[in-house]
Amino acid sequence: MMKGQDLHALLAEDVAKVEGLFSVIETLAGTAVELWHKIQRAPFADILGSAQHTNVQGEEVQKLDELANDRMKERLGALPAVAAVASEEDETAVLFHSNGTLLVCMDPLDGSSNIDVNIPIGTIFSIRPRRQEGPVSETEFLRPGSEQLAAGYFMYGAALTLMVTVGNGTHILTYDPDAGRFIAHAVNARIPEKGKIYSVNEGNALQMPEGVQRYLQHCKSSETLTGKPYSLRYIGSLIGDFHRNFLKGGLFLYPPTASAPQGKLRLLYECAPMAMLAEQAGGKAWTGSGRVLDVVPERIHQRVPFYVGSARMMDELKTFIG
Ligand code: AHG
Ligand code: MN
Ligand code: MN
Repeated sequence: MMKGQDLHALLAEDVAKVEGLFSVIETLAGTAVELWHKIQRAPFADILGSAQHTNVQGEEVQKLDELANDRMKERLGALPAVAAVASEEDETAVLFHSNGTLLVCMDPLDGSSNIDVNIPIGTIFSIRPRRQEGPVSETEFLRPGSEQLAAGYFMYGAALTLMVTVGNGTHILTYDPDAGRFIAHAVNARIPEKGKIYSVNEGNALQMPEGVQRYLQHCKSSETLTGKPYSLRYIGSLIGDFHRNFLKGGLFLYPPTASAPQGKLRLLYECAPMAMLAEQAGGKAWTGSGRVLDVVPERIHQRVPFYVGSARMMDELKTFIG
């Protein structure tokens, strides 16, 4: 693997071990390019604003949530390897091919509150193996994130960025519209072991557990790992906050709150894929009571408290909420 390679050349050796795995990643990538082009013309493409209904999360669905979900499912469903898709936007898993070998989890559009204000949004995906044959059941998704074969996200920003892992390091590619391909520019990327950024919705601070509140005070003091107060950076898109903290070093927190006692973020298609990307790059991902990748979900939309980022900053956090 090396910089300058396209997606297939970069992953070829690793994905060859799993039948159909690359076809899923390639299909997600093709759909991401289509969505990115539409997002660049959003004000003229009638994809802004609400779709006038709420989803299983109780959130108002945006037109782009629906478009991304529909397009990703349509193209994934055409792949024989795909047995089922668990999507943030669908109450139950969508079952496809009973002789499929792969399960796909996805947040088709992460950061929906930012769609209309041109702040980076994204698609998060996770690919897991089936452990049984025959008719597909939603219960097959209820396995620990440590079983993920691949995870990643597409970030729709000024550039179209793909961060991906297939279990052998975390890599970063950017789409080159002239070449019509994703090109790798970071191979086996590493999260700095510490940074000076923390990311949390401070507006919820008074609703958070006491240990977390003490940690947030600590971030504003000169007792931090850097000897100076950290900087707060929070844009309300998990993929944007994660990506910046991954590159610069930092810690992202979505703790339990009064209104979200298990946290807001969903395990299968937000926390587990981000946790795999982070751990493959030397970072850590925690729920406050254990490793994210060890959690066995009871439901496909299960939420967990989520802390992810630089290893030494996570260790520092654990001294407050361990
Ligand atoms: P989604 O748009 O898929 O529902 O995800 C939004 C998530 C995540 O992207 C972000 O980190 C978080 O919601 C922000 O939540 P708050 O607005 O409660 O801070
Ligand atoms: Mn999301
Ligand atoms: Mn979403």
